[in-house]
Amino acid sequence: MRVFSHTSRPSWMGLLTAALMGTSTVKAVELDLDDGDSIKKAAKEVATNMMTYYTGMNPGDNPGNLPDPYYWWEAGAMFNALIDYWFYTGDDTWNDITIQGMLWQAGDNKAFMPNNQSKTEGNDDQVFWGFAAMSAAERNFPNPPEDQPQWLEMAQAVFNTQAPRWDPSSCGGGLRWQIFTWNNGYNYKNTISTGGFFNLASRLAKYTKNETYAEWAEKAWDWTADVGFMTPEYRFWDGASDLSNCTPINQIEWTYNAGVYLLGAANMYNLTEEPKWKERTEKIIESSSVFFAHDPPDVMYERACETVSTCMVDQRSFKGYLARWMAQTTQMAPFTYDKVMKRLRASGQAAAKTCTGGSKGTTCGLKWTDQKWDKTKDFGQQMAALEVIQSNLITRVSAPVTDDDGGTSRGNPNAGSKPPKTVPPALAYSITTADKAGAGILTALVMIGIGPDDVLIKLNYTGLCSSDIHMMQGDLGVPPMSTFGVRSPGHEGAGVVVKIGANVTRFKVGDRAGIKPIMDTCGSCGHCWDDKETYCKAAIHTGLMVAGTYQQYLVSPARYASPIPDGVSDEVAAPVMCSASTVYRSLIESNLRAGAWVVFPGGGGGVGIQGVQLAKAMGMRPVVVDTGDAKQKLALEMGAEAFVDFKEVADPTKAVIEIADGIGAHGVFVTAPAAYKNAISFTGDRIGSVVMCIGLPPVGSMTLGADPCAFVLKNLTIKGTLVGSRRDVAMTLDFARRGMLQQISEVYPVNRMPEAVEKLRKGQVAGRLVVNFNWEE
Ligand SMILES: *[C@@H]1O[C@H](CO)[C@@H](O)[C@H](O)[C@H]1NC(C)=O
Ligand SMILES: *[C@@H]1O[C@H](CO)[C@@H](O)[C@H](O)[C@H]1NC(C)=O
Ligand SMILES: *[C@@H]1O[C@H](CO)[C@@H](O)[C@H](O)[C@H]1NC(C)=O
Ligand SMILES: *[C@@H]1O[C@H](CO)[C@@H](O)[C@H](O)[C@H]1NC(C)=O
Ligand SMILES: *[C@@H]1O[C@H](CO)[C@@H](O)[C@H](O)[C@H]1NC(C)=O
Ligand SMILES: *[C@@H]1O[C@H](CO)[C@@H](O)[C@H](O)[C@H]1NC(C)=O
Ligand SMILES: [Zn+2]
Ligand SMILES: [Zn+2]
Repeated sequence: MRVFSHTSRPSWMGLLTAALMGTSTVKAVELDLDDGDSIKKAAKEVATNMMTYYTGMNPGDNPGNLPDPYYWWEAGAMFNALIDYWFYTGDDTWNDITIQGMLWQAGDNKAFMPNNQSKTEGNDDQVFWGFAAMSAAERNFPNPPEDQPQWLEMAQAVFNTQAPRWDPSSCGGGLRWQIFTWNNGYNYKNTISTGGFFNLASRLAKYTKNETYAEWAEKAWDWTADVGFMTPEYRFWDGASDLSNCTPINQIEWTYNAGVYLLGAANMYNLTEEPKWKERTEKIIESSSVFFAHDPPDVMYERACETVSTCMVDQRSFKGYLARWMAQTTQMAPFTYDKVMKRLRASGQAAAKTCTGGSKGTTCGLKWTDQKWDKTKDFGQQMAALEVIQSNLITRVSAPVTDDDGGTSRGNPNAGSKPPKTVPPALAYSITTADKAGAGILTALVMIGIGPDDVLIKLNYTGLCSSDIHMMQGDLGVPPMSTFGVRSPGHEGAGVVVKIGANVTRFKVGDRAGIKPIMDTCGSCGHCWDDKETYCKAAIHTGLMVAGTYQQYLVSPARYASPIPDGVSDEVAAPVMCSASTVYRSLIESNLRAGAWVVFPGGGGGVGIQGVQLAKAMGMRPVVVDTGDAKQKLALEMGAEAFVDFKEVADPTKAVIEIADGIGAHGVFVTAPAAYKNAISFTGDRIGSVVMCIGLPPVGSMTLGADPCAFVLKNLTIKGTLVGSRRDVAMTLDFARRGMLQQISEVYPVNRMPEAVEKLRKGQVAGRLVVNFNWEE
């Protein structure tokens, strides 16, 4: 799930609204809550509208995926809504689509970790599919064919893959948001992931009577309370970074967090009949009052974002889950019935009143409290309206079944228990010889004789740097690679010395070593003497004049190879060789001090984020100007004090100046060429500010400058620095060793290198890409 909540953002839905203006509203969804047929009819109209978003059943489409901008998990949530829909109404219109989509996405281990998703999948994403499977078992949804994965089995598979991810190594336990180390959010322990696991465990406990599930549910609940994600008043915060021992906690409150714990507690109560679970269930209902308006009374609203119109894609569906789980709670804990139904009725009625949009008059709005359509349309808000309307049928249906009480779904306590590889499975991508040649990969060991002062390095990783693309395209104004007979670009390598020349004393076989953008210098010119070695006229550029790090074995002069200290992994060390040490050098050359506001326009990419971390470590105050949720999240997690989304903010320059004391930035670090355009503007009225040029635009493509008065009156400086020297690399590696420069790379197996290069070429990379030579799929 791509929920992000540290800062509020203006609504992008305005765009949609504009597009929708002028649609005539002819009808509306009618709803009489005392008439079952009326509820069913309303549910069908809203569901029919919701299903116009889904195209997975069409030939050639992927069953179980929603089109952009909806993330994969939301399709899992949709199937759960459809299973409930069938159960509530008896209408089987979408049953086949549901079975098809869920089986398609179940993946090899039946745990909803299909190859196409698992690289970016979070625990919360996975568990929403698990919920759908669990609901199918609880509601006796038609079973898949015998030879296919079964509902209960799939829910167990999700549980069995998640339980081993319980991680006491930080914050005393809990589930991380993300599954894989390379995804942003791996260091975030959150309530929805842990709560999802709790909810699923409690329902499996009830369904199977296997005590292991109940023990896990107890454990997950206790941890949520101990870590403080659940307050003593039973309110649920969002989560916290485990790098700081889960404090401070991000105290944003979402409806679905209350909901996910509510139904879990109700199941535990039904199973154990213990007073403590009764009390917990009751208290969550009380505390969730915060999500219900007074005017109109008892109507649910997403208080964290609706009132300020900042609900993002995922968040638009959340209310639906609280409604879904409240309804089921009335079955597991019937004593809650009066309190819950009062709210479900008021909310269902209000939601239906928003469903007057679109040509059929069945498009629902986001804000139920408005009781009229707010002229927006969105899959998630449509689903939420469906959930709250159909949950009013809960009184007319029977309770969930269990193994010994009518359940027919086949289980398998060991399903999914073979943990998936800790490396992400590849897309089915078969690499051809032409592909390999195209990206200059040459992994076979060439039996090279090496000079007396050289070392042969076997690389474990290479980073991919955007200047590699320029090298391949030959647009940097330097002679192209082919002039030197070089086919392999790349200049960020980290690996192991496998052979040393006769006179090498600095390295021995087995030592770790890195390759940088410069392979060697003359060592005896003015620049080389003067800590300007990277400007040496005789410098040999890696991946241009000699083969670069897209091939695994490289000969390097021992004097120029960089030793890599223990405690820095190769995937971190590789990008240090170029991008991180380059930005380190730029920070040093800027002469800025601790406390300075430093802006990284376009800094949500690889180099910028490394700059943010280093600047932060040096006591500076980084601000990133870029766009998109992924970049925002990454920037803030990595130490930016603020993120200005240039697509969301009317005047990004003004926003930055406001942040920088209302005066302007002390320094501007331009890592992305496109950002030169208005780089100077961020310095505002700051006297003595400096603009540092780092990113290389295609030669001749742009000019940077300002009115001479600005230089005179503001003592403005503009300067550039090249890559890092050997000393800069050593210093930067030391920041990494001390944990101040973290891994932000996405790792690719070597056989998917062409795909990674292509992604870089298209500018689709938020962090940094690295390729692992020892991993092939
Ligand atoms: C994975 O993606 C590929 C390429 O889009 C597609 O052909 C395949 O059907 C997808 N697999 C699943 C399980 O969705
Ligand atoms: C457990 O759930 C069943 C089915 O809804 C219900 O009849 C029973 O009363 C519940 N048990 C308790 C202790 O509330
Ligand atoms: C109970 O569940 C656990 C966890 O999945 C499993 O290892 C165990 O075999 C199950 N026990 C029985 C009797 O099914
Ligand atoms: C690098 O790869 C070699 C195998 O080629 C392995 O022995 C070594 O542990 C790896 N080094 C690191 C730091 O991962
Ligand atoms: C190694 O260094 C020594 C002393 O500088 C020199 O005499 C010898 O020729 C060198 N060996 C080679 C193989 O270059
Ligand atoms: C002007 O700026 C430069 C570089 O930031 C600084 O070294 C110098 O002291 C400043 N001069 C004055 C007069 O402030
Ligand atoms: Zn580079
Ligand atoms: Zn030199």
